[in-house]
Amino acid sequence: MTDFFRGKEIPTNKETTIGNVGWRSPSNIALIKYWGKHGRQLPRNPSLSFSLSNAFTETIVNYESRAYSNDKASLEFYFEGKPNEAFKLRIQTFLDSLLEFFPFLRQTDLVIESTNSFPHSTGIASSASSMSALALCLCSIEEKLTGEMTKEQFNIKASYISRLGSGSACRSVFGGYCIWGNTKLNSKYTDEYAQGVDLIHPVFANIHDDVLIVSANEKSVSSTAGHQLMDNNPFANTRYKQANQKLIDLTSSLAEGDIDSFGKIVEEEALTLHALMMCSDPSYILMEPGTLEVISKIRNFRTGTGTPIYFTLDAGPNVHVLYPQTAKQEAQRFIREELLMHCERGRQIQDKIGTGPQKITQFSHVES
Ligand code: PMV
Repeated sequence: MTDFFRGKEIPTNKETTIGNVGWRSPSNIALIKYWGKHGRQLPRNPSLSFSLSNAFTETIVNYESRAYSNDKASLEFYFEGKPNEAFKLRIQTFLDSLLEFFPFLRQTDLVIESTNSFPHSTGIASSASSMSALALCLCSIEEKLTGEMTKEQFNIKASYISRLGSGSACRSVFGGYCIWGNTKLNSKYTDEYAQGVDLIHPVFANIHDDVLIVSANEKSVSSTAGHQLMDNNPFANTRYKQANQKLIDLTSSLAEGDIDSFGKIVEEEALTLHALMMCSDPSYILMEPGTLEVISKIRNFRTGTGTPIYFTLDAGPNVHVLYPQTAKQEAQRFIREELLMHCERGRQIQDKIGTGPQKITQFSHVES
């Protein structure tokens, strides 16, 4: 760890400080998948994603600094308005692991309140939105207690800390498309935090992602266990090499507006992720019959009509349907008429690319 990430101490002349900070942070969907990790949440290959707009976590942290110091963080945690012990434990462990990055945690009491705009087990990563929202709040508190950072420094630290909470969360700190991980594409990209992709053709600027809920059952393998399976996967090294090349190819498609090659790469990536799980030991089949029906209909519709509509998958059965703004009408009609019949209770969550996290002072989303 470089000194940059090591947190500053609260100045000794600072009196007790009470305040609150809040962030809304989105989930993201990976187009080039991160699957396999080492060390402290470092990726085995670079990944590329875009941030969503409607799927987000809002977190508000009330903080009060005190004169004496503890060797643990002190917190209360409320999820959707109620105390939640399971989440609190996870956050306690995470915060306790961050004392070197945020020394203020030793002498600050926190009351953390969090809420999600989307339900669990729907194929949208709540760990990405929740960990990035929390990391952004911690960086804001550090800034208030110890002095300002530049916007770039702030985002880099927030992305680095998000990564320690959940790898893919580091990509949620930015709007639009971003890359996390060392790549030959450009030496500015690093395994430590994510950064935006600058050159995006207008065709991809307003891309949609409608998540079709084929099944809302709990995942049969956690992503932590899934990453570990890569350690003994016989195809692991070939996969890491392939992901590196695909990321470079996808970046060209994004810059040039080449939607055919974009779709080809994105679909191959989704199926490769699932193929890796199928050939792991133990093996997992995370797709459901409905997943395959949806995939096959998307491909047939695309070939038959020329509509640019594609799919990607996360580590589960639900299908992320991707299409540009120009194809919105045909794509949404096709989804309604042909695909929702394969979804649990006809459910989908309509989303699209978003502009990244926003500071908040109160919750916008009230659970019914
Ligand atoms: O961030 P994690 O540990 O939940 O892993 C995410 C893995 C995938 O969602 C399957 C791919 C990705 O890059 O987001």
